[in-house]
Amino acid sequence: MRPFLIAPSILSADFARLGEEVENVLNAGADVVHFDVMDNHYVPNLTIGPMVCKALRDHGITADIDVHLMVKPVDRIIPDFIDAGASIITFHPEASEHIDRSLQLIKNAGCKAGLVFNPATPLHYLDHVLDKLDVILLMSVNPGFGGQSFIPGTLDKLREVRRRIDESGRDIRLEIDGGVKVDNIAEIAAAGADMFVAGSAIFTQPDYKVVIDEMREELAK
Ligand code: DX5
Ligand code: ZN
Repeated sequence: MRPFLIAPSILSADFARLGEEVENVLNAGADVVHFDVMDNHYVPNLTIGPMVCKALRDHGITADIDVHLMVKPVDRIIPDFIDAGASIITFHPEASEHIDRSLQLIKNAGCKAGLVFNPATPLHYLDHVLDKLDVILLMSVNPGFGGQSFIPGTLDKLREVRRRIDESGRDIRLEIDGGVKVDNIAEIAAAGADMFVAGSAIFTQPDYKVVIDEMREELAK
């Protein structure tokens, strides 16, 4: 498996100091910035959009920005995030009228593309698009809020997706999002994840480097 990636979710950062927060968490050893976009329609919360992504780029953030779209419809907003400097764009298949078209919109612009599965979303959405995916993101909480508890049933789903990725022989990241903490990250990795979103576990702590180092120690076990 490729090196593990830690992707702090800025949903739990201090939005009043967002540029500084992102710099701090990257300096603390984070690999990727996870950027949660909620529309108060597909999910019952409202967050940040392309202007904030562009503001981070203008601020000098060069790390990959992993845009997790929790919006419906998805196609209208994809070009705006491409222009704003997104590196990876993932969306929920049930929020897209034409999944293949949405993936092509992302891929044709040179961005990495992924599908996101809620805890109860079936995996059959993978059947005809695996060859177009760079990332598969499994939600281990219901989307909409940070600070929820990891749903244990996600471990079996991770194992199933890991098997499908390995069988395909394709270079696809398996990302997990929701309730990831120092004390469960090793078990989640053992089930097959190689990219870990963590919001509250990191941003509620005074020293981000301490948490990220602890996560890496767990992953090295
Ligand atoms: C939830 C978001 C997550 C969330 C994770 O809808 O997609 O990225 O911020 O937060 P924690 O790590 O606190 O569960
Ligand atoms: Zn997310």
